[in-house]
Amino acid sequence: MIFDTHCHLNDEQFAEDYMEMIEKAKLNQVTQIAIPGFDRASSLKAIAIAQQVKECYAIIGYHPNDGIHVTEESYSELAELAKQPKVVAIGEIGLDYHWDTTAREIQAQVFRAQIQLAKAQKLPIVIHDRDAHADVVRILQEENASEVGGIMHCYSGSIEMARTCMDMNFRISFGGPVTFKNAKRPQEVVKEIPLDYLLVETDSPYLCPEPHRGQRNEPAYVTFVARKIAELRGMEYEELGAATTRNAEQLFQNDRTI
Ligand code: NI
Repeated sequence: MIFDTHCHLNDEQFAEDYMEMIEKAKLNQVTQIAIPGFDRASSLKAIAIAQQVKECYAIIGYHPNDGIHVTEESYSELAELAKQPKVVAIGEIGLDYHWDTTAREIQAQVFRAQIQLAKAQKLPIVIHDRDAHADVVRILQEENASEVGGIMHCYSGSIEMARTCMDMNFRISFGGPVTFKNAKRPQEVVKEIPLDYLLVETDSPYLCPEPHRGQRNEPAYVTFVARKIAELRGMEYEELGAATTRNAEQLFQNDRTI
C-alpha cells in the first residue's frame, strides 16, 4: 500500500481523466491520494474530488507564486473551506525564489498568514520551498509552526535542514527527483531520514520519476519513487510502503474521515 501525499489531480492536465488516474493508481496499490491546492480554483477542485472519491483528501491554500492574487477575503474563505469534510491540511504554502512571479515580501506575508490560519484551524501545513531554504526555516520558526507541523514537500534541502524541520514536527517527503541519475543530494538525504518521518509523493503532473521522466506524471508512478527509496535504504518495498502510509495517515488524522 502506498499513500501519494502530493498529487495535483486538480490540475487542468487531469480535467478529462482524473478518475481514470485514480483507478490506475488503485490497481498499483496506491490506495490513498492527497490533492494540494495552489490557488482558489484548485483548492475548490481538490475538495470536490475528495468529497467525490473515498481514496482522496484535500489540501487547500495559496502557492507562493499565486500570492499576488490573495486578498483578505481569500483568508476568510480559506478558513471556512478548511472546515469542510476531507480537508486534511493547508497547502501548498511557502516561498519560491526560482520563478519569483510574486515579490518576496508578498510571498512571505501570504506564507505567514496561512501558517497562522492553519494553527487556528489546527491543521498541518504542506510546505513548498524552492531555492528559499533559509527563509522558509526562519519563517517556520518565527511563526511557531511546530504547533501544527506538516510536510516538507518534494524535499531538496540538506540533511541538517531536514533535522531542523523534523525537530519542528515536519515530515520529509520525496518525489520523482530521487529517481533521477543526477540527484545525488536527495538520494543521500533520503537514506538518513528516520523511517517515522518519511513520506512519498508524485507532485503529478510534474516531476515524473524514472523510467518515465519527461512524461506527464500520475499517482500510480509513486510506486517508482517508493521502489527507488526502498532500494537506496536497503529495505523491502512493502515495508517502506506500509511505514510511509502509516506516517501520512497519522499526520492527516485530524480529519474525522481518515
Ligand atoms: Ni505541488
